[in-house]
Amino acid sequence: MTSTLNAQTHPLSDALLHRAQRVVPNAMYGHQDARGLWPGAPQFVSRTSGSRIWDADGHEYIDLLCSWGPIIHGYQHPRIEEAVNRQRQICDTANGPSEHFVAFAERLVDVVEHADWAMFAKNGSDVTTLCLTIARAHTGRATILVADGAYHGALPWCNPDTTGVLPSDRAGLAYYTYNDLASVEKLVMEHEGDLAGIIVSPFRHDAGFDQEMVDPAFAQGVRRICDENDAVLILDEVRTGFRMSFGGSWEQYGVRPDLSSWSKAIGNGYPVAAVLGAEALRESAGSFFVTGTFWFSAVPMVAALASIALLEERDGVGHMFARGNQLLTPCRTCRSPARLTTNSRWRGRPSAPLAVSSCIPNTTGSCRPH
Ligand SMILES: Cc1ncc(COP(=O)(O)O)c(C=O)c1O
Repeated sequence: MTSTLNAQTHPLSDALLHRAQRVVPNAMYGHQDARGLWPGAPQFVSRTSGSRIWDADGHEYIDLLCSWGPIIHGYQHPRIEEAVNRQRQICDTANGPSEHFVAFAERLVDVVEHADWAMFAKNGSDVTTLCLTIARAHTGRATILVADGAYHGALPWCNPDTTGVLPSDRAGLAYYTYNDLASVEKLVMEHEGDLAGIIVSPFRHDAGFDQEMVDPAFAQGVRRICDENDAVLILDEVRTGFRMSFGGSWEQYGVRPDLSSWSKAIGNGYPVAAVLGAEALRESAGSFFVTGTFWFSAVPMVAALASIALLEERDGVGHMFARGNQLLTPCRTCRSPARLTTNSRWRGRPSAPLAVSSCIPNTTGSCRPH
């Protein structure tokens, strides 16, 4: 076995991995595979609480990954758990949605400036895909422009891995370079008369690359191009939503999308995703059949309502920025760069940074090598 988990300090994790190898292809998949992380990274999680997780062997960690994004109030936040437990007693998955379905849609329409309506699903991939379908239904055209290397989910159209993927799975897609408006304009000319929309992330966060903030002129440029071509601007907020701002991430640049996709942080770990759209897209969004067995469950919606209320009351986004700065400042101001590897750097907004560093800030704010 090629596990990077150390069998001496992680005997139970190691044993679980051995068992998984028998019954799960490759023992694990996606980024949940701890073998792609640092040696000894927790492969199986046995317990969570607040900012902490415990692995199968009982080792305790501060979860700076926040469960790959969704946990913004900490695990088992009492306010959210209280609401969830109450709802779970009376109704979760049922023949139809609960009253919270409507309240949740109302709340998102209230908070997110460009939104006049909402539709719900479970995963980010569900809603990015739904956005493409709505854009095509609305325009009657096929071509969607996607940033080269962008991740919009694990489905064949948007999974960077090409194994098992047919060219027809990606038919109608054309690829521009993030922050390069000329590359977008070139594609628009090439696909003149067939442009359905442009999908874009609020900032560039491709796997394996440094994060890159959007150039406001690029954000404004894609908006203008969509307007000039009667195409749909889709903002993929799955990773950024309720982390970059309490509302749309491109509001600060004066840019409102026609459609946006949300998941991760909206439910503080409960599985829920949303498409939000502008009035002009309402009819098209309702013009085709779409559903999912678990898309209407009440518990995640109650969790999301409690989570959004907490974010608003506590200036949660401001708090995330402050805490992110607190965490990252020692690394940025470290006076002994010789102790850092050439790889040491951080990119992106403090509320969702990508930190690649051998520097771990200690309690005095100086750095010690990792
Ligand atoms: C920007 C973006 N869009 C879509 C997705 C897909 O979300 P999910 O994994 O919930 O399908 C992700 C997941 O990381 C993402 O980061």
